[in-house]
Amino acid sequence: MTQFPQSFPGTRMRRLRQAPWARSLVAEHVLTPADLVWAVFVHDGEGRIPVASLPGVDRLSVAEAALAAKRARALGIPAIALFPYIGPEGKDDEGSGALSPDGLVPRALKAMKDAAPEVGLITDVALDAYTSHGHDGLLDEDGTIPNDATVERLVEQALVHVGAGADVVAPSDMMDGRIGAIRYAFEEEGFTNAMILAYAAKYASGFYGPYREAIGSAAALKGDKKTYQQDPANSDEALREVALDLADGADMVMVKPGLPYLDIVHRVSTTFGVPTLAYQVSGEYAQIMAAAQNGWIDGDRVMMETLMSFKRAGAAGVITYFAERAAEKLG
Ligand code: PBG
Repeated sequence: MTQFPQSFPGTRMRRLRQAPWARSLVAEHVLTPADLVWAVFVHDGEGRIPVASLPGVDRLSVAEAALAAKRARALGIPAIALFPYIGPEGKDDEGSGALSPDGLVPRALKAMKDAAPEVGLITDVALDAYTSHGHDGLLDEDGTIPNDATVERLVEQALVHVGAGADVVAPSDMMDGRIGAIRYAFEEEGFTNAMILAYAAKYASGFYGPYREAIGSAAALKGDKKTYQQDPANSDEALREVALDLADGADMVMVKPGLPYLDIVHRVSTTFGVPTLAYQVSGEYAQIMAAAQNGWIDGDRVMMETLMSFKRAGAAGVITYFAERAAEKLG
């Protein structure tokens, strides 16, 4: 760098920041509605039911979910990720409701596909919404979650979803070997175009609290999920999980939660160069909304800042409860 005799800075970084046109010209990343996946809760009743711990988020009836699909299309949101609320009467020890071809999720999928076939539909593959104990898998009497028996169920659940119109299944259960088992079953059954978005690096996190209320599993959960979800202390382990899921046939991978794990989003996307999504989970949304409601932060501004941070970290897209609001603002 040239040294000037005077004491002015040799490089003035602020020149490029002085006007909106210059800032937008040199912006390294852009956020558009096409980067967003809208996380939507459905329930089996009528209308919309607010989720207390997620201000601005409602559980939607099947008819409302169909309207949401049209709304996504109008806003340029490419895909919706669907999560069911199943009441206590729909739960049992084995989560058998997850396998029903006329269950809530298959019905919602059909209604949404009819309403807006251009919108991608992503389903959550895991048993937790359907089990009376709230775990993502089966629960043995000794309190353990049997891996391989659970995987058999997940394969059936995934087949039910694609049979009803899901474009993408997203196994969020963290059982070993489930991606390979689901991929094999899809090939066998002729669902060769069905995509798998692996929740490859999913951490045992306190940030899922409001979600568990939203799907009705909070009260039910016995113990915790630390024998299958990852330890927040680990980063290399996430890369091993991703490598296995890719080798087993995942098309996209996900890191979850989002903001507290941006380092993982970055490592995964740079190491593998595969489409990597981040999930801005319920507790992240709730944090922002709570502070905004108190007037402590500007909620919309922080929403946009967090969404951009995922892009900067290397995410191809973000699953978020903010999708509708953010897409409206992005115009
Ligand atoms: C269930 C599942 C969870 C979330 C998505 N799928 C919760 C959990 O693992 O307990 C959390 C999403 C959120 O908090 O927004 N398998």
